[in-house]
Amino acid sequence: MGMKSDIELIKDGKRLDGRGVNDLRPITIKAGVLERADGSCYVEWGGNKVLAAVYGPQECLPKHIASPHRAVLTYRYNMAPFSVEDRKRPGPDRRSIEISKISKEALERVVLLEKFPNTMIKVFVEILQADAGTRCAALTAASVALADAGIPMRDLVTACAAGKIGGEIVLDLGKKEDNFGEADVPVAILPHTKEIVLMQMDGQLTPEEYRKALDLSIDGCTKVYELQKKALRERYVEGVD
Ligand code: CDP
Repeated sequence: MGMKSDIELIKDGKRLDGRGVNDLRPITIKAGVLERADGSCYVEWGGNKVLAAVYGPQECLPKHIASPHRAVLTYRYNMAPFSVEDRKRPGPDRRSIEISKISKEALERVVLLEKFPNTMIKVFVEILQADAGTRCAALTAASVALADAGIPMRDLVTACAAGKIGGEIVLDLGKKEDNFGEADVPVAILPHTKEIVLMQMDGQLTPEEYRKALDLSIDGCTKVYELQKKALRERYVEGVD
């Protein structure tokens, strides 16, 4: 973010890939793609390819982390070595630990954990291909996978970023926009109440720009939510289990 470059990120209202300032990248969401997991989801979001798998509620291991009041939720965001241009060193790093922590906290706001004391619910997200916005794509996939597993939730979690490139506030930054733009603001909400469950900022914005980016990312979330519902509906129409 904020790297100096001669690339003109926005010209006559059009972005590098031809999108307008308020446009999302193409997104496809499919629920129930893995047989061994209790719930799963595959998301393609621009150049991102993300697979989410959910297990549980199941026996809580190690036992000492169990709670008699609620299920323990775990979230692992992991980038495949081949997901980025320079090979990603396998295993957790500071970035993936941070993303896992905040994504878990976002999901804890919706899953009815109190219904399943002494158990655990495990969410795994594998980034197969990364092209900016993976934490949003991952969380979007994870909440569909939780719903696909039949785990009761207050709402889905829907995520989308907005940011600033070439002096303008735009929706859903692509890779070059993320690298050479001024700011990136990933946001996750509960679509029914518009409650914000994740909000970060990389780069710098004025308070007015920030408000605009936040409103735009919430608009983006609303569109993503429709695709999440469609994926879950298709799963039941197809009748696979
Ligand atoms: O993916 P997201 O925008 O949520 O997170 P980021 O930390 O802002 O990373 C932006 C992009 O940088 C990722 O989507 C990857 O395409 C790329 N990246 C990379 O090439 N190598 C890494 N180790 C981490 C990120």
